[in-house]
Amino acid sequence: MNFSFLPKYYKFFLSGTGYTLLLSALTVVFGLFGGLALALMKTSKNKVLKSIAVAYIEFIRGTPLLIQLYIVYYGISDLPMLAAGVIAMSVNSAAYIAEIIRAGIGAVDKGQMEAARSLGMPAFLTYKEIIIPQAMKNILPALGNEFIVLIKESAIVSVIGIHDLMYNTDTIRGITFIAFEPLVIAALVYFCLTFTLSKVMQKFERRMHVGD
Ligand code: ARG
Repeated sequence: MNFSFLPKYYKFFLSGTGYTLLLSALTVVFGLFGGLALALMKTSKNKVLKSIAVAYIEFIRGTPLLIQLYIVYYGISDLPMLAAGVIAMSVNSAAYIAEIIRAGIGAVDKGQMEAARSLGMPAFLTYKEIIIPQAMKNILPALGNEFIVLIKESAIVSVIGIHDLMYNTDTIRGITFIAFEPLVIAALVYFCLTFTLSKVMQKFERRMHVGD
């Protein structure tokens, strides 16, 4: 094993990690707004909105993120690559987050709605006070999980030249002609990120369930 590149090139890993985190964080935020809109559309009584949401979710989940990234980057002219990366990943993630939200709300026992409604609580208030707070216990952990998925999937943006962790790792491999060892470092960095995040999520989740 030859890690002689580290003293000279460790900064590549650091800045790459910064881009990877930035990209993933922006994507969960935008994806959350998109996912919320899609979930509302999919559960709405309006047939047109519902069909649009269903078609979007099925199409996005049924095609590779790599192609979606290329379509955004090459389809919109003069789009900076970082914007293309964030847009493509957000467009993709929104479809997954929509299902997380829909499933999270759907998993709340229907007796909760029936009980509140039969006591005369209006539908909107029932959602706000009874359904959503319980649904959050399903949704928040799944969103944390989506963040972890995005950190890993974001490696794909290296193909359009964004200087994320994967891209910078390849740069080091190219400069030093050391093909293998930089990949080991990159894998360790990705793992540290996802493992830390999943531990934080676990703690958070445990605290959220103390009331159960
Ligand atoms: N590798 C998957 C694909 O190409 C990416 C799926 C992204 N997943 C997600 N939960 N956002 O389609």
